[in-house]
Amino acid sequence: MLDIAFTKPILPKSGALVLLVCEGEIPSGLWREADEATGGAISRAFDVAEFKGGKGKTCVLLAPGAGLSRVLAVGLGKASDVTPKILQEAGGTAVSALSRDTAAAVATGALTGEQVAEVGFGAALRGYRFDRYRTKEKAEDKPKLTAVTLMTGDKSAASDAWSRLKAVARGVFLTRDLVSEPPNVLNPAEMADRCRKLTELGLEVDVLGPKEMGKLGFGALLGVSQGSVNEPRMVVMHWHGASNGKKSKEKPIAFIGKGVTFDTGGISIKPAGGMEDMKWDMAGAGTVIGLMAALAGRKAKVDAVGLVGLVENMPSGSAQRPGDVVTSYSGQTIEVINTDAEGRLVLADVIWYAQQKYDPRFMIDLATLTGAIIVGLGHEYAGMFSNDDALAQKLTAVGQSCGEKLWRMPLDEAYDKQIKSDIADMKNVGGRPAGSITAAQFIQRFVNRKPWAHLDIAGMAWSTKDNPCVPKGATAFGVRLLDRLVAEHYEGGQPAHD
Ligand code: BES
Ligand code: MN
Ligand code: ZN
Repeated sequence: MLDIAFTKPILPKSGALVLLVCEGEIPSGLWREADEATGGAISRAFDVAEFKGGKGKTCVLLAPGAGLSRVLAVGLGKASDVTPKILQEAGGTAVSALSRDTAAAVATGALTGEQVAEVGFGAALRGYRFDRYRTKEKAEDKPKLTAVTLMTGDKSAASDAWSRLKAVARGVFLTRDLVSEPPNVLNPAEMADRCRKLTELGLEVDVLGPKEMGKLGFGALLGVSQGSVNEPRMVVMHWHGASNGKKSKEKPIAFIGKGVTFDTGGISIKPAGGMEDMKWDMAGAGTVIGLMAALAGRKAKVDAVGLVGLVENMPSGSAQRPGDVVTSYSGQTIEVINTDAEGRLVLADVIWYAQQKYDPRFMIDLATLTGAIIVGLGHEYAGMFSNDDALAQKLTAVGQSCGEKLWRMPLDEAYDKQIKSDIADMKNVGGRPAGSITAAQFIQRFVNRKPWAHLDIAGMAWSTKDNPCVPKGATAFGVRLLDRLVAEHYEGGQPAHD
C-alpha cells in the first residue's frame, strides 16, 4: 500500500505538490505561498486553463520553479457540497496523475482532519496494483509514487480517522488480490487457506471440507463441485466485536458469498470467448472475506459472521448432469436443468447453514450470479433484491453516499411458476425472461423468515477501465458499502434490525 502520512503544512522544497481547490476559493495558505515561490506561475496556469476548482477538474504545471517537479491542482467543487466520495476521488485522481513522481505532498486548505483522511483513503485505493506475476516489467513502466504526505493542521484527527480507513483499504486490497489471482492458483482449498490467515486479526475461522458438508447434507453445493478434482470448502469467519472480542449472546449479522473459483459452466459448458473472466466468479466470496478483514482490522463494535461457499464448476466424467435431482441441506429438492446456473445451488446450502447455525439478525448475500443483471443495469449499479424494506432502504442510501450503488429489483411470487419442476420441488433455471429475478426467487426459497438482501454483483466485480479510486481489474465492490452499512447502522449497541 502507498505510504500515507500526515504533517503540518510546510511548502515542500522538491517533488510534487497537490493543491485541493474549492470552487471560488481565494488563494491562501500553502497555495498562495507556492504561487509566490513560483513567481505567480500557478495563478497564470489556472487562468490559461480556466481552472476554477470545479469538481473533478485538474490543472498540471511541470517544473514550475521553487524546486517543485510538478504542481497538480484538483477541484473539489463547492466547499459546502464536499462529500467523502469527492475527497476520495480527489486523492485517487492525484495518485494517477503523479505516478511519475516518487513523493507527493498534498495541501488540504481548510479541510478537517477526517476529510483529509478521506483524501488519503482515495489515494491508497487508487494506488493498488496486482503485480505478483510480472517478472519482466521495466522500471520506467512501474509507477514510482510510493508515499503521499497530507499536510494538515488537524494531524491527530486525521491519523485517527486514517487508522480506521487503512483497515478498510487493507480489506479492499485482500478482496482485489483474491479476485485477481488466476484460477489455477486460487482453488477452493487455497482460498480457504488464505481465510485461515485472518485469525491474525482476531477472527475465528472454521473450514469445512467435503466430508463435513456431506454429513450435513449439502447436496446442492456438492453437486456443483463433483466434477472437479479440486475439493470444495465452506469457510465461516466470525468476528466478535460487540463485546470486545469475547463471545456474546447477541445474534450476529451474516454475510454470505458465492465463491466459484472457476465457472466453466460444467456440462452445460460456456462458449470459449471470454471464459477466462470466470476466474472472478468468486468475487462475492472475495468481498465477504475482505469485509470481514476490514471489520476485524478496525475493531468494529459488531458481531458479524461471514460464510463463503467455495467450489470449482468443471465438466468431467464425474460432473453433474443436466437432469440430475439433488437434495439441498434445507431438504428441498432441485432439478438441475442447467449446470451453469451453479451459484444459486452453492448459496442455497450456505444460506440455510447460516440460519441453522447462527440465527442471524439479517443476512446479505453477494454473488456474480447472472449475466442478465449486466443486460439490465450494466456496470453502474449492482442489482439488489430484498424481502425487507428497511434493510433495502439502508443499503440504497449507503450505496449512494459511498458510490457503490444499488438498484432494487422486484421479488414476486408470480415469477415462481418459471422455476416449477415437473419432478422436484423446483428447477434451477427459469428461462430467459427476468433471469436475475428468477435467480433471486430461487435463493429466497432458502431464506427462512429472515430479513435478507441479495446483491447480484456480476456487472460490478471487475472493471475494464480505470476509475478515480479503482484501477482497472478487480474492484472489491461491496467491501466499502457493507463496511459503511455496519458503521452507520449496526455498531455501538444499536437495537436489533427493525
Ligand atoms: N457466473 C455466471 C454469471 C456471470 C456471467 C457472471 C457473466 C459474470 C459475468 C453464472 O454462474 C451463470 O453462468 N449464470 C447463467 C445462468 C443461466 C444458465 C440461467 C447466465 O447468466 O447465463
Ligand atoms: Mn455459471
Ligand atoms: Zn457462476
